[in-house]
Amino acid sequence: MNSSRNSAQDKKIVIAIDGFSSGGKSTFARMLAARLGYIFIDTGAMYRAVTLYGIEHGAIRNGVPDRERLNPRRQASDIYVNGECVEEKIRGIEVSAAVSSVSSIPEVRRKLVALQQRMGKDKGVVMDGRDIGTVVFPDAELKLFMTADPKVRAVRRYEELRARGDDVSLEEIERNIRARDRADQEREVSPLRMAPDAVVLNNSDMTLAQQMEWIEPILEEKIRGI
Ligand code: DC
Repeated sequence: MNSSRNSAQDKKIVIAIDGFSSGGKSTFARMLAARLGYIFIDTGAMYRAVTLYGIEHGAIRNGVPDRERLNPRRQASDIYVNGECVEEKIRGIEVSAAVSSVSSIPEVRRKLVALQQRMGKDKGVVMDGRDIGTVVFPDAELKLFMTADPKVRAVRRYEELRARGDDVSLEEIERNIRARDRADQEREVSPLRMAPDAVVLNNSDMTLAQQMEWIEPILEEKIRGI
């Protein structure tokens, strides 16, 4: 791929990336968006932001969301317009522990899905999440389903957390990853499913550079029609 990627004959498409947690989706999606000059949208961060808002406004206590007080109409936009950088906070342990329950609330999903659809309506986006190719953009021109061996994902996550100074064990992380996989697949609302027309990317034994190389011919076909 080169800098002529955005030449006149290129058509802008929606790239939907779904898959299990800690599978390298965001890193890959961010790099792909940068190469294409597309907007990268991390939908997990949106669910995390709503969760953070809930915690900070007393609408989530001990990890249990109060559906009455959690008004998705207000918080999603507040989070994104209030100017505070919450990137670090939304990745913290408190938000991580509550985000599964928040993302299972149908009203929250309805609001965030509508926002995501608005963000992608002009195409030129790479969006990652759990339900992008199945619910948010079922007509996306390119759908990827990213997966990797749970053990490989656990080692990656372990190294990330240790580098941040967190005292965690590899066994604990692997257990956590397997539990999240199950929760993502078994929840009632928008469970994680592979869209029938998705292309599978198993990156267990691939570097980021190899993944970018792997996707090159697929992009050529989808964007240039060659
Ligand atoms: O990808 P992540 O770990 O940042 O996602 C945070 C949580 O949000 C996780 O519990 C799955 C959920 N999620 C979702 O239900 N739908 C999405 N499109 C993205 C994330």
